[in-house]
Order: sequence, then structure tokens, then C-alpha cells
Amino acid sequence: MQVIQSIEQIRQLVRQWRQLEKTIGFVPTMGNLHQGHLSLVEEAQKCADKVIVSIFVNPTQFAPGEDFTSYPRTLQEDQEKLENAQVDVLFVPDREEIYFPDESTRINVSGLSEQYCGASRTGHFSGVATVVCKLLNIVQPDSAVFGQKDFQQLRVIQRMVRDLNIPVKIKSMPTFRGLDGLAMSSRNSYLTPEQKATAPELYQALLDAKEAILACRQGYPEIEHQQISRLRCSGFDPEYFVICRSLDLHSAKSDDTDLVILTAAKLGKTRLIDNIEFIKKI
Ligand code: PAJ
Repeated sequence: MQVIQSIEQIRQLVRQWRQLEKTIGFVPTMGNLHQGHLSLVEEAQKCADKVIVSIFVNPTQFAPGEDFTSYPRTLQEDQEKLENAQVDVLFVPDREEIYFPDESTRINVSGLSEQYCGASRTGHFSGVATVVCKLLNIVQPDSAVFGQKDFQQLRVIQRMVRDLNIPVKIKSMPTFRGLDGLAMSSRNSYLTPEQKATAPELYQALLDAKEAILACRQGYPEIEHQQISRLRCSGFDPEYFVICRSLDLHSAKSDDTDLVILTAAKLGKTRLIDNIEFIKKI
């Protein structure tokens, strides 16, 4: 596996691959890789001849006071995992390679970015959209793979790629979970053993809400309130628990069929997010 830090070198390599008519798959990450990330890599390998993974802890998507400085940086271990997965190139640019000191352009995907995670994390999705757009422009892959774990992020990226006519196919993979149901996340490493035991309850709340929706037992606001109270009783500090339309993340009505339930809740200082997407037949 080649480890590359400069945009120029990535471009040169991609040019060579293109001359050989190779297709290119891309998986952008912030590192501290787990099986969820590796499932995206596997998918990228299925659809392309060459795969590039990037690791860049993107400063512009962290709101002031968030965990940018303490975000787990485990390059050595990550590199080994990617070698074992037979990734072709690891792209690890530093901040100066990605952002000019006087950079002044931001991408804002309005309508999808303001609510839910965007409401508490000011500027987060603008930072994500900007860095993903830049990375796609640098690598120019045929396809790029993202996780459904970050559902709102996935929708923001799909909308940006559509609106800006970026010539890439966006693929998504289901959330990779532990046996207890907890969605794998780099931030799970912040949890104490006691919090780790409580954390799977977040997914359980999503499953129970889904079941209530499919059984048409209650109205959506009632289901949302019930699960928020339940999470609070279990020791979470819930931020939101919302039943949405899967495509545009608008609040769902009872006759909508393609649904996603999105939730974010804090356990101590750790913020966890999760979601469940499903179809309700009418
Ligand atoms: P990061 O949190 O490192 O995640 C990188 C990719 O892995 C994202 O597409 C995310 O949705 C996916 N992922 C994370 N946990 C997953 C899980 N349990 N199952 C499946 N996929 C999972 O998301 C980011 O980085 C950044 O915002 C980024 C897109 C790289 C832009 O900076």
C-alpha cells in the first residue's frame, strides 16, 4: 500500500491508473478505523479496480468546544488494517495540504443541514460538505462509499453531488454493529465500561419505535416522546429522536412510506448517534 500525503502525488497516480483504464473507488474517513469503515473498503473494492482511503481529521466540521483535539488518532494501527485489507493507497494529507490559510469557500447544503445534528453542531455539515467536495475533486474517483450510520451526512453528500454535478457514484453501506447492537463508532472509545453497557439501549429504542410504527399503535409524536423519556430514564441526555421521511429528512406523516428514525443522545460527555431506515407498507 502506498501512503501519500500530497495532492500532486495523488493526481499523478490517478492519471497513471486512468491511462491503464482502471476504475477508482474512494473511502473518505477520519481514521481510528473499525469494522464499519472496513465494510466500506470492501464495498469499494467490489466495484473498482483500485481503492484509495483517506484519513483526515477535518477541523472545519468540528464546532468550537467539540473533540477535534482529542479525536482518536491511531495512524499506525489504521495503516496496518488497510494493508491487511489490501487497499492500494492511503491518502493522509495534513491540514495545510487541504486548506489554504486564507481559504474562504464553504459549501452549504441548505434544507438538509440545519436540523438534527446540524442544530447542535453549528457549521458541521458545511465543514463535511466542503471537505468531501474537495476530496472528491482531488481524487476524482468513479465511486465513493459512505456509511448509513451517519444518515444525515449521507443525505447531505448525495444532495451536494447531485446539485453540483460532481461526476461520482455515491454508494452507501448499512451500519455495522457490535453483537449488543451498538453502532460501531470511533467515539465509543470514550465510553466507560458502565456507559458501554447502557449504550446499546439507543438502538433498542429505535427498534421499539419502528415496531410501534409498523403496528400503527400510536401517533408519531407520541412514539418520539415515549422513546425520549425512556432514554432519559436509562441515563442518556437525548438531543433528538425523530421520525422522518428517508429521502429529504422532513418530518414524516402517517401516509409516508420510506422512513428513517434519527436519534442523537449523550451518555456522559460522549455524543452517540444512530438511525434505522425502513419501509412502512400502507
Ligand atoms: P468517519 O466518522 O471516520 O466515518 C467515515 C465513514 O465511515 C463515513 O461514511 C461513516 O458513515 C462510515 N461509518 C462510520 N461508522 C460506521 C459503521 N458503524 N458502519 C458503517 N459505516 C460507518 O464520517 C466521517 O468520518 C467524516 O465526516 C468524513 C465523511 C470523512 C468527512 O470528513
